[in-house]
Amino acid sequence: MAKNKLKKFAEMDSLPNVFQPRHEEVFNAEYKYKGKWAKEVFKNDNPIVLEIGCGKGEYALGLAKMFPEKNFIGMDIKGSRMWTGATTSNQLGLDNVIFLRTYAEFIESVFAEGELSEIWVTFADPQMKKARKRLTGTRFLKSYKNVLKEDGKIHLKTDSNFLYTYTVEMAKANDLKVLINTDDLYSSNLATDILSIRTFYEQQWLDRGKKIKYFCFSLEGKTIFEEPDVEIPEDDYRSYSRSKK
Ligand SMILES: C[S@@+](CC[C@H](N)C(=O)[O-])C[C@H]1O[C@@H](n2cnc3c(N)ncnc32)[C@H](O)[C@@H]1O
Repeated sequence: MAKNKLKKFAEMDSLPNVFQPRHEEVFNAEYKYKGKWAKEVFKNDNPIVLEIGCGKGEYALGLAKMFPEKNFIGMDIKGSRMWTGATTSNQLGLDNVIFLRTYAEFIESVFAEGELSEIWVTFADPQMKKARKRLTGTRFLKSYKNVLKEDGKIHLKTDSNFLYTYTVEMAKANDLKVLINTDDLYSSNLATDILSIRTFYEQQWLDRGKKIKYFCFSLEGKTIFEEPDVEIPEDDYRSYSRSKK
């Protein structure tokens, strides 16, 4: 492993705002802070907002600066990316954002029923071949339903036409409550405050001329979710860029 990565991993262990549960603490288990993040970690009763696949944590950090009265958790599995957000947050002295290194698949092991107010999914891999791994697929929606408050919001920000269309179709098929929907965020008048934060991946897609889509919805009143029964065209540019790597 590269020296720089090893150094970051070592540092992650000592950062007070980083939580790295061991496999046995989340696999068929309840993590020690499940249901206790606000009281025991943030030491308040404020709402908790989770960013899944936070990468370097731009959204978790940006939102934490804007909303000191809310708590933010950046979740990702890649420690070296998360290191950037965690060290920046430490340097800025932000006490309302922490980073949790685990798989989204363990969300119900780390959060209790109704513990989250909002979930952000920012520039996730669209997983065009694997519906089960798609962060807005039914498998994850079922889990989100269990950890979100009844009126909790899910925010999807993506460059991927496939993931955006799939999620819109998911909302249609399940009659989900749509709060905001745009397939071209920066040509709309919506790109103010929370939507103006740009992540590392977002900037790369913008530099390549891709339109950014934003879809905000809620699972209110729903308990059963079905996959949408539609063919969705795959993103050509994504398979092209993958095969070139
Ligand atoms: C394309 S990157 C986007 C990172 C960041 N949100 C951004 O916009 O720059 C997707 C991130 O999701 C993370 N990820 C993918 N699947 C995940 C999962 N099941 N659980 C946790 N993180 C995941 C990856 O490690 C990666 O950092």
